Amino acid sequence: MKKVYLETFGCQMNVSDSERIATQLEIDGFQIIPNENSADVVLLNTCSIREKAEHKLYTRIGQICNTADKKPFIGVLGCVAQLEGETLFKGNPAIDFVVGTKAVGRISEAVERVLDGGKKFADLRDRDADYNWTVSTSQRHSPFVGFVPIIEGCNKFCTYCIVPFSRGREKSLTAAEIIRQVQVLKIQGIREVHLIGQNVNSYRPMSEEGLEGFYGATPFSRLLRAVAATGIERIKFNTSFPRDFHTDIIKAIEENENLCNWVHLPVQSGSNDVLKIMRRGHSIESYMEKVDKIKSSDRKISLTTDIIVGFPTETEENFAETLEMAQYCHFDSAFVFKYSPRFGTPAFEMHDTISKQIKTERFLVLEKVLRKSQQIALQDQLNKTFKVLAERISSKNNREMTGHTTCHKIVNFKGADVLLGDIVNVKITECKKNSLYGEVC
Ligand code: SAH
Ligand code: SF4
Ligand code: F3S
Repeated sequence: MKKVYLETFGCQMNVSDSERIATQLEIDGFQIIPNENSADVVLLNTCSIREKAEHKLYTRIGQICNTADKKPFIGVLGCVAQLEGETLFKGNPAIDFVVGTKAVGRISEAVERVLDGGKKFADLRDRDADYNWTVSTSQRHSPFVGFVPIIEGCNKFCTYCIVPFSRGREKSLTAAEIIRQVQVLKIQGIREVHLIGQNVNSYRPMSEEGLEGFYGATPFSRLLRAVAATGIERIKFNTSFPRDFHTDIIKAIEENENLCNWVHLPVQSGSNDVLKIMRRGHSIESYMEKVDKIKSSDRKISLTTDIIVGFPTETEENFAETLEMAQYCHFDSAFVFKYSPRFGTPAFEMHDTISKQIKTERFLVLEKVLRKSQQIALQDQLNKTFKVLAERISSKNNREMTGHTTCHKIVNFKGADVLLGDIVNVKITECKKNSLYGEVC
């Protein structure tokens, strides 16, 4: 039996692809192993969102070649693979084959071909029509939380972003396929599903298949209601695109207890000037209007975001507007990124005008503001009791468990592994920097 080691970088979509890649390989008789040491083939499922992500890949390839007993065949998959194709062979001679983001259904063929010897090759072709979206229980990233891709790719072409090039145009799965997957997950004991996509709320299935009523103004909130009707215990969805965030999504959450009270709505900047050059399609006023509606819901919906600092042309005044926006929105948590120029995107041509030092300064100032609102949001949970999904034993203390609330806050609590997979009531007794601590009650 040939041994394959698969390592994943990047977003939930890559994690989800890796689950299906491993499933396919296992079905076709390969053994998936937990590290590279005795691997015949190493697969690296890559991310290209920022420059650093690519550097990480090349460093990792270097490590693998140095530490492995015998050099394994190395295959590059994912977003770097799709973007770079055969040029990767010139950049790094240790790479033996390349499989693009849509070609993952042919992974076994690719691995067999490389094991048979012969020339290096790249498969960047499209998905086969009979691509199988099913993930086997043994290859899931969690026994209790399941990812279900509902829309792939992106049509938005924000000027800084590489994703429309690495993932192609938006393509929604049919509602029937999504519901089928959720039902399978439910039967297999999954307690929480995450409907995932670059922009989940741009969901728009184009085929005639699927459930009726998915062709109106708000197909995503209709899909949410249909998934809620399966009775699976918890449903989260990620990421929402601000321009397409219809208030009917809030209504759907309010109508269905199992639609979780968390919305991730990346704003990117607080300045209309910058948002325009980013080509985000939303103004800061329209964003805040949506935030007001989210915050006024009785479901106490938590709000998280992504922000880029140091985008070309961002002035001190523009940045001050971002700080003001962050103070207004009181995010439960936020990811801040320093702008990273990506070759091939329109922003790359604008030249990276903001110095490294200013990017770092802005990053730190913004982080401080965001930390404050994160702390307030965490402290607000003190002495309250929440339903927490006991997802795993804590990596820091084996007598503690870790999991998430419905509003996606991390909670650690004392407990033994018999609780694994249970949804338990936890009273919050302490709040830490990024998480909560509590006791089962
Ligand atoms: N589709 C989602 C985001 C997907 S990418 C959306 O539109 O909101 C995840 C995050 O990476 C983005 O929200 C953005 O903040 C960040 N990002 C994307 N390209 C970047 C770049 N070139 N430099 C820095 N951060 C970037
Ligand atoms: Fe990138 Fe914009 Fe698409 Fe998000 S919406 S994936 S930021 S192009
Ligand atoms: Fe990275 Fe590709 Fe996801 S660039 S963030 S792995 S879509």
